[in-house]
Amino acid sequence: MLDAMGQPLLKVDNLQSWYGESHVLHGVGIEVGEGEVVTLLGRNGAGKTTTLRSIMGLVGKRSGSVKFEGKELIGARSDLIARAGIALCPEERGIFASLNVTENLMLPPVVRPGGLDLDTIYALFPNLKERANSPGTKLSGGEQQMLAIARILRTGAKLLMLDEPTEGLAPVIVQQIGRTIREIKARGFTVLLVEQNFRFAQTVADRHYVMEHGKVVDMMSSAELQTSTGRLHQYLGV
Ligand SMILES: Nc1ncnc2c1ncn2[C@@H]1O[C@H](COP(=O)(O)OP(=O)(O)OP(=O)(O)O)[C@@H](O)[C@H]1O
Ligand SMILES: [Mg+2]
Repeated sequence: MLDAMGQPLLKVDNLQSWYGESHVLHGVGIEVGEGEVVTLLGRNGAGKTTTLRSIMGLVGKRSGSVKFEGKELIGARSDLIARAGIALCPEERGIFASLNVTENLMLPPVVRPGGLDLDTIYALFPNLKERANSPGTKLSGGEQQMLAIARILRTGAKLLMLDEPTEGLAPVIVQQIGRTIREIKARGFTVLLVEQNFRFAQTVADRHYVMEHGKVVDMMSSAELQTSTGRLHQYLGV
């Protein structure tokens, strides 16, 4: 999962972030190899969303290092970070109510080659194809989540950061999202996933980082996670 130079696709070192005066991340370190699916687990308020937002350059102030394909992005603006090939699918999904499914899909700009075309996306998401002309307001929560994921596959981003894509969805839809993530991985995309549901995370991810109080406190593979549920319960308080 390392490139020819022995570097992971994303390497985050000693990442610190602030919202105004509030110091939220205290030195996060994570690595994500090309083609990997990696999760951030942790309790509410641990700093998972802030980690994704900080990688994307969407916090007030950040320091440390965020290297993508070996290139330092810590000082870069969020639009340049997007153009480098990182995309964020936020928890609130951001589907435009007044636009239909196809219009929502076509909205984010293509930032680099390698994205999927509309036909390929509709082949991957038959539910969305059926609803191509439906406005955003008429979609179920699951359909909106699928659309939010589908939308960034077009842009050419290599690293997809998904913030709690299964939140609030019925188990059968959660399974669909799981299949989608495995399919995305099979197509060579790299995924950094925030999840509260570690049983789900285990079915889609290669490795897991555990966050507490704005820091990474542990890392385990999915295989280790099976034998470490006691340790994980302590971290997550579940
Ligand atoms: N816009 C903001 N301004 C100030 N503080 C914030 C802001 N957003 C988050 N925080 C604080 O930063 C900390 C980390 O929040 P973050 O949203 O990253 O946690 P999280 O791990 O994603 O939690 P959850 O599981 O609830 O989504 C929390 O203490 C939160 O209160
Ligand atoms: Mg969050």
